[in-house]
Amino acid sequence: MDPVRNPYSPGAGTRPPALVGRDREIDAMDVALQRLLLGRDGRSQLLTGLRGVGKTVMLNEFEQCAGGRGYFHEHIEVGEDGKLAPRLASGFRRVLLSMDAKRRIGERIVRALGVLKAFNLKLPDGPELTIDVDVVLGPADSGDLGTDLAGLFVELGEVARDHGTGVLLTIDELHYVAQPTLEALVMGLHRASQLRLPITIAGAGLPSLATLTGEAKSYAERMFTFPSIGSLDGDAAREALVVPAADEGVAWEERALERVLDVTRGFPYFLQEFGKQAWDVSDGPEAITLDDVERSIPVATAELDEGFFRVRSGRTSDPERSYLRAMAELGPGAVRSGEVAALLGRSTTDLGFVREGLLRRALCYSPRWGEIEFTVPMFDEFMKRWIPELPSAPG
Ligand SMILES: Nc1ncnc2c1ncn2[C@@H]1O[C@H](COP(=O)(O)OP(=O)(O)OP(=O)(O)O)[C@@H](O)[C@H]1O
Ligand SMILES: [Mg+2]
Repeated sequence: MDPVRNPYSPGAGTRPPALVGRDREIDAMDVALQRLLLGRDGRSQLLTGLRGVGKTVMLNEFEQCAGGRGYFHEHIEVGEDGKLAPRLASGFRRVLLSMDAKRRIGERIVRALGVLKAFNLKLPDGPELTIDVDVVLGPADSGDLGTDLAGLFVELGEVARDHGTGVLLTIDELHYVAQPTLEALVMGLHRASQLRLPITIAGAGLPSLATLTGEAKSYAERMFTFPSIGSLDGDAAREALVVPAADEGVAWEERALERVLDVTRGFPYFLQEFGKQAWDVSDGPEAITLDDVERSIPVATAELDEGFFRVRSGRTSDPERSYLRAMAELGPGAVRSGEVAALLGRSTTDLGFVREGLLRRALCYSPRWGEIEFTVPMFDEFMKRWIPELPSAPG
């Protein structure tokens, strides 16, 4: 059928034509944002889930809610380097400047920018920010990240409150941030939340993000919920496919739908990819049939292998690939590192550095001590397609 009218949207963070199965989280966030504006407590969210389940899409949705409620918002994406503070500094600067542009805040913004300037100068790896005001020493330049972030959040929160608005920062790929930095972020925000200031963060990351400990954990639990999002259940997955087609006057044959639900297991990215390819191969004009789906499966699989899976596995060394392949041999879910090593004829210690590398780059995570699991759904099947034979020992 006409590719121009194809409604499906596989891609990183691309809004799906029908955003289904996430009403609870979206509604809760909208309530929290409204409560914060009223000077009440409101619990934001730290979303966790595997690759391609729709975390970034949710953060974008939260931004939309925030915009609709008169908030200023900024989006930050953490990279593999794990640096957070410099990215926050740039984000805060953008928020302050846009608040000033829209609300003509004047003197108060000059002070807030001065505080931010002092914060940034104190950072060992501070970005080069053009902040054309005098430094304001004191609130955010002690050198202790938690204290300084608290100073910044309070500063921004007060400006927002005094001008009848709020601030939402969305932070994506938060799992790359090291534990002490994450704790500093939580402690910093906690101060602003104690003062009931209308400023908050919504974050997203891989399942390893849910490992906050100690004092930071008890603070975090007061300020956030931790929804884990994953594949869509049967009804929602159906809706994700049926609604966008229906909007174009096209129906899905029941058997065709079932086949796609079966191969994708309801994972959002895969639904979009298989929906897209089935649409493209179908002759239509009014229905997508089982035959269309069967013909599109090899195409969709190849697209996923070249795009989704390859991109998310990044550059891998030979030993890493062998390790991933051995994991795949043991099954789709969590596997014991000891068994992976045994399968490769090596000791766990021998392969410690390979395992560490995969964890650091977030190709895998460790759900429990001594266990390791892929962060990408159905990655085991991809590894078996990529490397059909299990290698004997890593090079
Ligand atoms: N609730 C949903 N219903 C239907 N499709 C969805 C839903 N959420 C996300 N998608 C689709 O899934 C794909 C992946 O979404 P997104 O990039 O937000 O995932 P992610 O969890 O951020 O992945 P990654 O960890 O790789 O960054 C997109 O093509 C998006 O359109
Ligand atoms: Mg994402």
